[in-house]
Amino acid sequence: MSGTAYALVILACVGILGVLFYWQILLAEGAYLGQRVVTWLYDIYAARYDAIKQYDSNMEALFLGIPLGNTLSGYPAPLVLDVGTGTGRLAVVLLAEPSFQGRLIGIDASLPMLEIAAEKNRSYGDRAIFLWRDALYLPFPDGCFDCVTCLEMLEFTPSPEQQLAEAVRVLRPGGLLLTTRRRGKSALLMPGKTHSRIAFTALLEYLGMEDVSIQAWQVEYNLVWAVKAGSSSPQANFLESVLICQTCGCTDWQRNGTDLACRVCGTVYPICSRVIHYQNQGQA
Ligand SMILES: C[S@@+](CC[C@H](N)C(=O)[O-])C[C@H]1O[C@@H](n2cnc3c(N)ncnc32)[C@H](O)[C@@H]1O
Repeated sequence: MSGTAYALVILACVGILGVLFYWQILLAEGAYLGQRVVTWLYDIYAARYDAIKQYDSNMEALFLGIPLGNTLSGYPAPLVLDVGTGTGRLAVVLLAEPSFQGRLIGIDASLPMLEIAAEKNRSYGDRAIFLWRDALYLPFPDGCFDCVTCLEMLEFTPSPEQQLAEAVRVLRPGGLLLTTRRRGKSALLMPGKTHSRIAFTALLEYLGMEDVSIQAWQVEYNLVWAVKAGSSSPQANFLESVLICQTCGCTDWQRNGTDLACRVCGTVYPICSRVIHYQNQGQA
């Protein structure tokens, strides 16, 4: 093979690698390479995440904080779970709403993302609590949250359908789900991870949701609102009454500034930088 042919082959290989890098790492953020890669990338991005996203606080309030706060204002002290909470974007905007008088638990697989979330929401004290944990299996009983939110996260999980089913499981009948649907050109480049409007609505209805409303929002995402079929009264409004101990299965905790201890079996989970280290088995 001539020198020119070699150069062309090398150029083609570099080009293919570049395209693969753009697709798999920058666009899909490791979604096809496994949860460890996704989490690792968020660990690396964490310090720059907010600067890259540049959320406009007015728009965040208009599309998230105000409608969510108003919808939940009918409940005395709603308990919200934010799945894939990242740097605490939803907590910041919801807890700032005077109409919202509840508490929020944020869960995420990336510790550096959570540490930023916890710091940003420090002033809310116990009203914003953050758990470091993979969210594919949520350590909460069925139907214990008044509202579950899951923004810009589903497509990065190993199974968006399973993740959504898990979010719905912990939502009480009559409770509110707020999630996102990836849309536009980037969604086409994430086959198997994203859904058409029709398929997403059908999936939610299959999971027992009703009043599904898909709303225009960002270039790459729709906001999706839905209500879990049925009705039930709010049951609990703080972490210690809903978190299931991974050792004994009880929900009886004692918490101080440095750890969370199960009163039944004595298992202790550390709290560092205001984040509860509640990893599932096998998580790094
Ligand atoms: C694009 S960010 C969105 C963060 C936040 N919801 C927002 O809207 O700014 C996706 C987040 O999902 C988290 N994530 C991805 N897979 C996860 C999993 N299986 N369990 C928990 N968190 C996960 C990532 O660590 C990351 O913080």
